[in-house]
Amino acid sequence: MIATTETEINGLKDVGSIIRHVLDEVEKLVRPGVTTLELDIFVGKTLAENGARSAPMLAYNFPGFSCISVNDEAAHGIPGPRVLENGQLVNIDVSAEKNGFWADSGRSIPVGDVSQSLQHLCNSTKRALDAGIKAAFAGNPINEIGKAVEAVATAAGFQVIDGLVGHGVGRNIHEPPEVHNRYLPHGNEELQEGLVITIEPFLTKGIGSYREGRDGWTLLTLDGSHAAQYEHTLIITKDAPIIVT
Ligand code: CO
Ligand code: CO
Repeated sequence: MIATTETEINGLKDVGSIIRHVLDEVEKLVRPGVTTLELDIFVGKTLAENGARSAPMLAYNFPGFSCISVNDEAAHGIPGPRVLENGQLVNIDVSAEKNGFWADSGRSIPVGDVSQSLQHLCNSTKRALDAGIKAAFAGNPINEIGKAVEAVATAAGFQVIDGLVGHGVGRNIHEPPEVHNRYLPHGNEELQEGLVITIEPFLTKGIGSYREGRDGWTLLTLDGSHAAQYEHTLIITKDAPIIVT
């Protein structure tokens, strides 16, 4: 959506701040021994307490309040009885709707003590997101976001995962445009003031391709390498974007 009025901007900030709160709180529960279902139940309860509804449930009938993806699962993992173990990497992606406004945020969280290489993957993915956010201002071509993300990934020795992209958001969970994590020469449409998008780099040490799991939802790296993702929802302005999550 293009958010221009104060009502629209405040509506997005409201649902965005709930998502941030949910992620901050659920992150504290991540430890060896917890199940992904326990984490998801907390997410659902906390969204409800704040008057928000799970976006993946609402839009896609996803079997969970949030997407929880472990290790080589890049996205759309289904919460369940899986017990988290020390050294794993878990991604929790929370998207929600409140009063007709939708926002989306995710983060990869180390479980207990992780290897230096996993920590490096996380740090680099965060830096890639920051670089993408810096390229997100009105008048800049949208492919400058992908260029900035890809440059950080490559310099750190990682690949972006092909086909996993950011997106427009605001009045629904997935709206145009796609926000690619690499430089596409033809994707040079200028970012418009008020445009609401997510930026969500997915990085991996591996070949940067994914496959769909047998459950019909989970997306896994093709070669079994770990994947990390960090995601924010933001509103484009002439200067730095308004990060609502
Ligand atoms: Co998203
Ligand atoms: Co998301």
